[in-house]
Amino acid sequence: MASVIVEEDYSETVTDRKGEAYTIRKYDHSKDREKVIEMYETFNPELRCLGLPPTTRKGIENWIDYLSETGIGLIAERDGKAIGHIVIVPTEDGKNADVTIFVHQSAQNRGIGQELMKRMIKFAKKAGFKGIMLVTERTNARAIHVYKKLGFEVVDPYFEYDMYLDLRKVDV
Ligand SMILES: CC(C)(COP(=O)(O)OP(=O)(O)OC[C@H]1O[C@@H](n2cnc3c(N)ncnc32)[C@H](O)[C@@H]1OP(=O)(O)O)[C@@H](O)C(=O)NCCC(=O)NCCS
Repeated sequence: MASVIVEEDYSETVTDRKGEAYTIRKYDHSKDREKVIEMYETFNPELRCLGLPPTTRKGIENWIDYLSETGIGLIAERDGKAIGHIVIVPTEDGKNADVTIFVHQSAQNRGIGQELMKRMIKFAKKAGFKGIMLVTERTNARAIHVYKKLGFEVVDPYFEYDMYLDLRKVDV
């Protein structure tokens, strides 16, 4: 079973499309849990996708704890605040990984989602996963645009919107 290994001290400074610097680093549950919960507590409910993030503090806590127990995450951080969060969770057979990504509305459309995704794709490929799966909503044009740009293909457009990235086709 593949497992993603991101070095504990992995951290990069990146510049967004408005020229402002931020950091992408490995999510550390003991240090970052509260930060990420705060990001989701202030997340614009109109931008939720497939019922996520949960709308109550308890719901967010349970979700974040589950993601941290089962997956590996990265956070984007600026001025001590989480502005983006991405997690991959291996599928039951361990061959593929499911990805979840959110960028806070204060930081959307600056390329941060794509930078987080690119890094996670690289880590997942290195770890030996065959592919990355995700589900989004058919009306989520921005997310679909980002995923397609990074090579994801639509595999099931009928109910929600299932997409898949074949990591064998990805050059990183
Ligand atoms: C989807 C999401 C993760 C993308 O992250 P982001 O940092 O905002 O995205 P980026 O800035 O990297 O890229 C946005 C791209 O979408 C494009 N875009 C913006 N609005 C768009 C729209 N309505 N329709 C199509 N494309 C759109 C931008 O032009 C940009 O594309 P480009 O690189 O070709 O110029 C983030 O916006 C988000 O969290 N949205 C709300 C929750 C969500 O949908 N999460 C996905 C889980 S289902």
